[in-house]
Amino acid sequence: MAKITINGGKKLNGAIKLHGAKNSVLPILAATVLLPGISVIHNCPELSDVEAAVRILEHLGAKVTRENNTVTVDCGDLKNHTIPDDLMREMRSSIVFLGAIAARMGKAFLSSPGGCELGPRPIDLHLTALNELGLNIEEEHGILSCECCDGMKGTDIHLSFPSVGATENIILAGVTAKGTTVIHGAAKEPEISDLADFLNGAGANIQGAGSDNIVIIGTPCLHAAEHTVIPDRIEAATYLAATAVTGGRITLLGAIPAHLTPVMSVLKTAGCELSVKQNEVSLIAPVRLKRVPVIRTMPHPGFPTDAGSPLMAMLSVADGSSMFVENIFENRFRIVDELKRFGAKIYTNGRVAVIEGVKSLSGASVECTDLRGGAALVVAALVANGTTEINKIHHLDRGYERLTENLSALGALIERC
Ligand code: EPZ
Repeated sequence: MAKITINGGKKLNGAIKLHGAKNSVLPILAATVLLPGISVIHNCPELSDVEAAVRILEHLGAKVTRENNTVTVDCGDLKNHTIPDDLMREMRSSIVFLGAIAARMGKAFLSSPGGCELGPRPIDLHLTALNELGLNIEEEHGILSCECCDGMKGTDIHLSFPSVGATENIILAGVTAKGTTVIHGAAKEPEISDLADFLNGAGANIQGAGSDNIVIIGTPCLHAAEHTVIPDRIEAATYLAATAVTGGRITLLGAIPAHLTPVMSVLKTAGCELSVKQNEVSLIAPVRLKRVPVIRTMPHPGFPTDAGSPLMAMLSVADGSSMFVENIFENRFRIVDELKRFGAKIYTNGRVAVIEGVKSLSGASVECTDLRGGAALVVAALVANGTTEINKIHHLDRGYERLTENLSALGALIERC
């Protein structure tokens, strides 16, 4: 099995170009199902989750080609309306294909995503909303058989939680529905706005993306589109944390500062110096990080749950104790036991984690439990004294393109073998 070895203690110094946002390109790839013709997606990162989404598209009958970070998708002639179980298991967020397949094909057949490394992966908000849009859903033994013979019909949807995936599924089901759909209590993540921009470029009529209420005026026929994916704000947060923990300096090229406001606020509290330009964010780390009394993860525009693990690792060597309150995923702290192998002092109770800053960490043999937990292990290894071996790095390949190359270019002593 592949692993990463890091000799810690080197300051990171330099600049890296951010890759396209994983959590934007996945729903955009699902959205191509709605578009007869050849869509072109630029700044598409090379990630295993993206490859999984491409395999789903090809299973449906799409023709997909890639040239570097540009992916071309031809959904002119789809033949299938099912997602096989192995592909659903490969990527739980494949549920976001449901709305698009049902809207295009009139039916969809897939297994429910079940649990994952972050906890149960409920999809009740997705299914309730799609049913209100006219999709008849039968669930038996974990298989979803869905049909909407007369097509989707626009309606008002009230989300009890601003679920990112459910908001995306409703948009994908509503853009070609008869009539208007209004999502009340929508997710406001930048990736939602990017999806809306892509679909509006394909002839859709989506207003209010990025706000609590999104209005989707059904448009029967859409066309292929060309789009450049926004930069990945969680990749950005990860490199900022990695630089801050090593006492270094970094410039993130292609960043959108407005997407990083809550993360930059925490880094400033920790004593980092941050500066922004139109498409850049730069950080200079202090000699020693300060504690951050409380970090609460929240739906956007609050502090993103996905940035919690790498920043927790960063604060494990801060001066004083910090506390995380995780309000999104119940298993977000799974990585804590692995962080303790470095000598980190972290105490968890339910959704609360207290990190008592220590003077130093020691290299260890550890394994990734999930994507962002793996990022936390990399951050800890970069500052730990001695050598760290990180196993199960397939989790990292889901969300970080060229991680080893980028960190090496910034001065880290890192190898993948
Ligand atoms: C998206 O997941 C992201 N994934 C996650 O990033 C991110 O952490 C999350 O949004 C929150 O921002 C992608 O976009 C592919 P949710 P998603 O629906 O859509 C509960 C990463 O590391 N819920 O907003 O699955 C759910 O259990 C990944 O890049 C229901 O109860 O998140 C969770 O507690 C991890 N019922 C909360 O809502 C539902 O029907 C947030 O889920 C749906 C969700």
